[in-house]
Order: sequence, then C-alpha cells, then structure tokens
Amino acid sequence: MKVIAVIGSGTMGNGIAQVAAQAGWSVALCDANPEALQKALGTIKKSLERLAEKGKLAEAPPTIWDRIRTTAAIETAVGNADLVVEAVPESIDLKRRIFEAIDGAAPAHAVLASNTSSLSIASIAEAVSRRDRVVGMHFFNPVPVMALLEVVRAKETSEETVAFAVATGLAMGKEPIVVRDMPGFATSRLGVLLGLEAMRMLEQGVANASDIDKAMTLGYRHPMGPLQLTDLVGLDVRLAIAEHLHRELASEAFRPPEILRRMVAEGKLGKKSGRGFYTWEGDKAS
Ligand code: 3HC
Repeated sequence: MKVIAVIGSGTMGNGIAQVAAQAGWSVALCDANPEALQKALGTIKKSLERLAEKGKLAEAPPTIWDRIRTTAAIETAVGNADLVVEAVPESIDLKRRIFEAIDGAAPAHAVLASNTSSLSIASIAEAVSRRDRVVGMHFFNPVPVMALLEVVRAKETSEETVAFAVATGLAMGKEPIVVRDMPGFATSRLGVLLGLEAMRMLEQGVANASDIDKAMTLGYRHPMGPLQLTDLVGLDVRLAIAEHLHRELASEAFRPPEILRRMVAEGKLGKKSGRGFYTWEGDKAS
C-alpha cells in the first residue's frame, strides 16, 4: 500500500485525506491541533456515509476510514511517506518552515506537494534540498466532489514528478491539468477575479448578494454564485489570495475590496464561521 501524509486537517486537508483513502492509500493526517483532527475525522465519516448512501463508494466507509491515522508530529506523519501533501494556511513563511521539516524527515524518494491556491511553488521549494521533487497539487472544495486537480510545475520540478502527480490525481478519480508556476495558476487567477468583482458590485449597490449570485447561476449556469462560493472557500482564504495576486500581478483588478477586509476583521469568514455573505446552517445558506 502506498503511503500519503497530509499536513493540515482543515477543509482541504481532510478532503485530500479522504480521497486518498478512497483510492486505497494509507493516510497519515497531521495537525498540531488535536481538536482539528477530531473534527476532520467527523467530516470525513459524514462525507463517506453520504457517498455510500448514493452508491458512490467501491468499499464500505469503515474500510476506507480505517486507512486514516492521525498524528500531531510532522516527523511521524512523513517518516514512511511516498507522497506528502501540505494543506496549511496560505502563508509563505509557514509553508517554507513546514517543507523544511518534511524534507528532513521524509524518505528520499518522496514527492513533496503543496495544495497552495496561489503561492509560488518555486519559492516554497527553496526550503528543501530535493527541488526536483516539489510540485503543486491543487485540489478544490469540496474535495470529494470536485473533479479537477491542478498540477503546478515549477522551474525545477522534474518530468517524473509531474507525471507522478498526474497519475496520482487520476488514481484519486480527478481530472488533472498541468499549469506553469505563475501567481494564481489557471484557477485562482480567474475564479478570485469574479468573486472580487461581485463584492465591488455589492458595495456599489448593483444588486443584493442573492441576486448577484443568481445572475451567474441562472444566467451563466455556474453551480454556485461568486459570493456564495466565497463563503464556501472562506473570506479569509480569499483575502489572502487577493492580497498576494494584487502584489504579484500588479493589477488593480485584484485589490481586495473594503467589504472583504471589513467582514474578515469582523470574523465573518463564510460557511466555516456560520456567517459571510449568507447565514449558514450546515450546508444550507440563507
Ligand atoms: N462529500 C460528499 N458528497 C458531497 C459533499 C461532500 N462534502 N458535498 C456535496 N456532495 C454531493 C451531494 O451529496 C450531491 O450528490 P448527488 O448529486 O449524488 O445527489 C452532490 O454532491 C451535489 O450536492 P448538493 O445536492 O448538496 O448541492 P449542489 O448540487 O448545490 O452541489 C456543490 C454542491 C458540489 C458544492 C456545487 O454547488 C458546486 O460545485 N459549487 C461550486 C464549488 C466550487 O466552485 N469549488 C471550488 C472552490 S475554489 C477552491 O476550492 C480552490 C481553493 O484553493 C480555495
């Protein structure tokens, strides 16, 4: 059985752990916060049961979740890993520190991937000695449902590493695309822009949040409007990405709108905090 270590057990980390376990990998899910790990296991169980009810799993949920063990120590998590996927908050310093720790403890053959949605893979890779084995593996929320895997190739990433990331994505039931290591890659650069513009339209009173979202769901067949999607992703996550892209692409289109800064300061982070552009109860927004 191949071994994957997932560092960070938040929304993305627990989703990645789940799809890896579904694909038959032995999973070490690592988080310094024991409560976050417990919450992650609960989320994974609920999601697996939901998929099982719809007949979408090849195995019984307990068989799948039994492949997942948890630990607070990075060294323990990555000690026998073939692949490490980092899914911690979008801070370059934090990611570099974590990659340095992973590099010191993971087997020499292990591929080190980041789930970053916009930060430079090359700059994260500066923290490690095996730069040819560092790659972006960007998943989408909700990970068990979303089909895309964005594989990000940095300057020093080897062909073998890109091929491994693509093959792993396929084995996890995802459709991989391979993109260059440019700020925001292909997905965040386009997706965040739409969300920021929707916020500016809300500030300008073009329409209320629900009608701005309907414009895109009913008029353009998006599965979810840009404001509801911002709630799903997390306003704090979107703010961090917008600040980074504003700086790196030197484009005013990415300047974070005032409403986004204010809502994050007020703790209105979207679905995970129960309040964002909508009020959330479980999966339901009103
Ligand atoms: N686990 C298991 N199954 C789930 C699930 C989960 N966490 N969430 C949803 N599902 C299943 C449902 O059971 C349902 O299954 P069915 O089709 O067999 O009945 C199906 O997914 C659809 O769910 P719902 O009926 O509850 O609701 P919707 O039809 O509205 O779909 C959605 C929900 C899949 C979230 C859809 O609204 C959607 O695709 N939204 C856009 C999501 C998106 O754009 N994500 C990308 C965000 S950007 C990102 O992640 C990048 C990061 O770096 C920030």
